[in-house]
Amino acid sequence: MAKNILVLNGPNLNLLGVREPKIYGSNDIFQINQNLEDIANRNGSKIFFYQSNHEGDLIDKIHDSKNNGVDFIIINAAAYTHTSIALRDAMSATEIPFIEVHISNVFKREKFRHISYISDIAIGVISGLGIYGYEAALIYALNHEIKNF
Ligand code: DQA
Repeated sequence: MAKNILVLNGPNLNLLGVREPKIYGSNDIFQINQNLEDIANRNGSKIFFYQSNHEGDLIDKIHDSKNNGVDFIIINAAAYTHTSIALRDAMSATEIPFIEVHISNVFKREKFRHISYISDIAIGVISGLGIYGYEAALIYALNHEIKNF
């Protein structure tokens, strides 16, 4: 079971709740995170949250996670999922197991969203379950022996 979990959100996810609510729903990122924190705390795990609109900041956070004892990452890299080899390399370099989450079903959307630079190195991918995707990823992390990368 993961003890120190990081939830990483990429660009534009600070706008959840107001951004295209038909696609992303009406909950904001603070409500989503609060729910995850409650679940993690009830299960005796620590959970940390980070959102950035900047690729390099996300990469720095991934690097720091290694030194800070993070043992599992739930990541919605948003548009960087589809573009960023640098982000993939950071996930690869730190070897922290992770689940890739997307609120929307990216496969029902534009072709460019069907490409992910991180899916093949993730434990799993959750796409299209709305914000429940974060919760499902957390429940997995709390209930499974997390194998090495
Ligand atoms: C997203 C899907 C991405 O294609 C998009 O760029 C996002 C959000 C999702 O959660 O559904 O910003 O990752």
